[in-house]
Amino acid sequence: MTNKLKLIAGNWKMNGGLVANEALVRAIAQGMAGASCTVAVCVPAPYLHQVNQLRAGTPIELGAQDVSRHEQGAFTGEVSAPMLREFGVRYAIVGHSERRQYHGETDELVAEKAKTALAHGVTPIVCVGETLAEREAGRTQDVVKRQLAAVIHTNGHCISEIVVAYEPVWAIGTGKTATPEQAQEVHALLRAQLKAATPHPERIHILYGGSMNAGNAAALLAQPDIDGGLIGGASLKAPDFLQIIAAASAAAK
Ligand code: 13P
Repeated sequence: MTNKLKLIAGNWKMNGGLVANEALVRAIAQGMAGASCTVAVCVPAPYLHQVNQLRAGTPIELGAQDVSRHEQGAFTGEVSAPMLREFGVRYAIVGHSERRQYHGETDELVAEKAKTALAHGVTPIVCVGETLAEREAGRTQDVVKRQLAAVIHTNGHCISEIVVAYEPVWAIGTGKTATPEQAQEVHALLRAQLKAATPHPERIHILYGGSMNAGNAAALLAQPDIDGGLIGGASLKAPDFLQIIAAASAAAK
């Protein structure tokens, strides 16, 4: 247990538009006055510039949803960490299950992306999580440990600079949330694994993601090893996102 602030990060995924983004960011900024947690929005790449301007003068941090493992060059369609930095990006999600599943991202690629992000001052939010079939086969621990081990192996002592997000694939966008106990069990396991790589694993934020919403956030965030949330659907609705921010602030008190 530490008294570090919780981190609440919205993952907008492939949603948004110029008009909707403006209304959403303004509502979050207005509603989160006095919040005692860190808040970030991870937006589609074309909107980084817009949201970076909208958030100016607010405590909202900016995040991207992916980053290239390469720094520059002939990699059509990719966005580099130095480019993200130019737009005020502090966080980049890497290894989201949707990228592992639909874009064939491997543990090694995810680890390389985390390394490139760190080298350029972007904090990677490294996602790990098991599928329903893996959970039912009793393989949850093996899967998340393997996914995190690759990132530890490639990043060495820099591991203390990452954020980890445990996102059980079966809970993403399904309305099925891991129970606080199920999530805590995996978070404690990940914390123990980080302990072997860094002397201060308690400093690393381990977020929960997967159907986190205004109703279940407080119970999840009350768990000793749940340091925040990575929120998809509920981050697109300002009132819902603000309730999660309020729950995270209350948990810090
Ligand atoms: P939902 O909150 O929509 O389940 O998405 C979770 C997620 O994938 C965040 O990265």
